[in-house]
Amino acid sequence: MGTNLKKHLKHPVFKVASQIVSEQGLEAYVVGGFVRDLMLGRPSKDIDIVVVGNGLELAKACAEKLRVKKVSFFDHFGTAHFIYKDLDIEFVGSRKESYNEHSRNPKISTGTLKDDQERRDFTINALAIDLRQENFGELLDPFEGIGDLEKGIIRTPLDPEKTFSDDPLRMMRAIRFATQLNFKIEIDCLNSIANNAQRLNIISKERIMTELNKIILSDQPSRGFKLLMSTKLLHQFFPELVKLYGIEKINGKSHKDNFHHTLEVLDNICEVTDNLWLRWSAILHDIAKPNTKRFDDKVGWTFHGHEELGARMVPKIFKRLRLPLDNKMKYVQKLVRLHLRPIALVKGNVTDSAVRRLLFEAGDDIEDLMKLCNADITSKNEFRVKRYKKNFEEVERKLKTVEEKDRLRNFQPPISGKEVMDTFNLEPCHTVGMIKNKIKEAILEGEIENNRDQAFNFMLELGKELGLIVKLKA
Ligand code: CTP
Repeated sequence: MGTNLKKHLKHPVFKVASQIVSEQGLEAYVVGGFVRDLMLGRPSKDIDIVVVGNGLELAKACAEKLRVKKVSFFDHFGTAHFIYKDLDIEFVGSRKESYNEHSRNPKISTGTLKDDQERRDFTINALAIDLRQENFGELLDPFEGIGDLEKGIIRTPLDPEKTFSDDPLRMMRAIRFATQLNFKIEIDCLNSIANNAQRLNIISKERIMTELNKIILSDQPSRGFKLLMSTKLLHQFFPELVKLYGIEKINGKSHKDNFHHTLEVLDNICEVTDNLWLRWSAILHDIAKPNTKRFDDKVGWTFHGHEELGARMVPKIFKRLRLPLDNKMKYVQKLVRLHLRPIALVKGNVTDSAVRRLLFEAGDDIEDLMKLCNADITSKNEFRVKRYKKNFEEVERKLKTVEEKDRLRNFQPPISGKEVMDTFNLEPCHTVGMIKNKIKEAILEGEIENNRDQAFNFMLELGKELGLIVKLKA
């Protein structure tokens, strides 16, 4: 007798499915991610049910019994799907072909349960639980997936060359699961990924990004990125990140390895945020360093302007990777552009006007920018990190004080262009913009406070200097 998981299948869906399976003399199993996550004690909302033969009839009967009204049928793929309470349930006929939801191959030939299991991606995803009443809850594990779960190993059921050639996205999935679960990829499997890395080119960027984003959202994404680099999968879709790798030495002076530095910053930021886009800004913060790298005899290595060039690279990278081009991209771009500013404050004298300017430019993203900068403080020298972090806290305090006093976040000019025109009887022209800008500058420099009265008087002074005449009220 093998393992029985009956006690974990309390959800009414399993009971109903099991009843119908036995009544109709069918053969059906719960498979894939749900079983894996059950064994790992991770909650899962997606249930995949494989029916030997056709899945559509069972889906229909289950939905009827559970009084689910909306069932989607995908005849072309032989799958059906419905939502019941908190669960997403998919029914599929067992296949001889590779299990690949995006396969364009329309011909699907029926296979046994074993056929179906061996055409799945990894042994830990090829576990099945019997739904027939006489064997209800029995675990079927022909490829020792349970052993791999216990040992923490990612391995393919068949020769990896075959599994990866069926669907090259699985190379990304191997690294994604290894990162999420902190598992090791079995050596033949890893070698096969390295041998077949170029095959990733036939996979759409959208599917690659789904996996990459899951790596980025894991506890310690650096694990995944190191594997992507060593197998050269990263080279297929993210050459800019690959270019950060390595150090150069001139006259005995070398610079940081920016790839590993970036990964350290990424892991650091993951400790304080689950925001995918803030994590992306950590990945991209130094992306233009290779393009701006110079060696100067006096100062050593410099990367002048990498923040600005990096910000300009962001839309191009997002576009190529099919990432969103809306305000999420703009947010990442802004953080990349501003990422040195708080650090510059830490190094120099923290003047009020520098703090005001930073608040003005960062707006509501100031806290996230500070998180990025804090994560960016990496050094082998612990003493240096400590000193930096202390100065950093000083900048944070100052930001708070100035913010409370001057309310510069989401700055709205206290005097509108229309008011300038009305006061001096001007048509829209360059002078109006210039006056508005000078008022803003005076506020940021701390010459006047951020309020209407002071701004209005300042405007009158400016008008006098410019020889403008105040229009008398009628
Ligand atoms: N599968 C596969 N090859 C793929 C995609 C999926 O063999 N390229 C199989 C695996 O058996 C997997 C199941 O289909 O367990 C369901 O796939 P999916 O829902 O994408 O992933 P999960 O394993 O459920 O994992 P997660 O929910 O974390 O994405």
